[in-house]
Amino acid sequence: MNLLIMGPAGAGKGTMSDLILKSHDIPHISTGDMLRENVRNNTELGMQAKSYMDAGRLVPDDVINAMVAKRLQEPDCAKGYLLDGYPRTLVQARAFDELAAGIGKPVECVIALDVPFDVLAERITGRRICPKCGAIYHVKNHPSRVEGICDVCGSALVQRKDDTLEQLKVRMEEYDSSTAPVIAYYETKGVVTHINGAQASDQVFAEIEAALAKLA
Ligand code: AP5
Repeated sequence: MNLLIMGPAGAGKGTMSDLILKSHDIPHISTGDMLRENVRNNTELGMQAKSYMDAGRLVPDDVINAMVAKRLQEPDCAKGYLLDGYPRTLVQARAFDELAAGIGKPVECVIALDVPFDVLAERITGRRICPKCGAIYHVKNHPSRVEGICDVCGSALVQRKDDTLEQLKVRMEEYDSSTAPVIAYYETKGVVTHINGAQASDQVFAEIEAALAKLA
């Protein structure tokens, strides 16, 4: 299966990707996670990306396109992919479509999670993540069993630097100007399924699964 999951910051892309992976054997490729790993490891790519990410701005297209092109060459992508947070600009979308066609894996479905700003703000400011295994929590909606400690690996949870109301507003500006047109672009190809992402997680996931069942 060749899937994209799209939506603004806090829409639930990471949360839904974790659930999708439980029933579909495809690699989850999150450009945000890949960039954060590069920042943690102080790679050259990470150093290039850090200032953009901290400011809530998009990392330049050429950096991202090269990173994804390399990742898609790995053997696990023979099964397909679940791309989370990419493509995020029309330049990325066109480069990606060319790449995907070249490897015989064009996008089959774009899951677009629609969530209003007030819900995004509540989710982003309450999110906590595990810096080690990447598990995602929320202080109210999905708390860890022991406050501040990851249920999966026992590491101390952290808040992302860009998870403030101020940065969310910048990320929304980027989304509206650069990423919403990508959804419109895929709509012209007839592959977009809009899902109301403001519902409870199990309901959002059930609607995604119903959409994916139609592809099989
Ligand atoms: P990235 O990591 O992709 O961040 P984002 O798109 O802003 O999305 P988030 O990870 O913030 O949210 P999400 O939709 O995954 O929500 P989650 O599931 O965690 O990118 C970060 C930065 O990297 C960008 O700003 C940019 O600088 C750079 N970057 C990345 N890709 C790039 C690209 N292609 N081009 C250029 N730059 C790029 O959920 C959020 C919270 O809500 C959690 O606490 C969760 O528990 C809770 N929650 C989720 N769903 C529900 C639900 N249904 N009900 C209740 N609570 C819920």
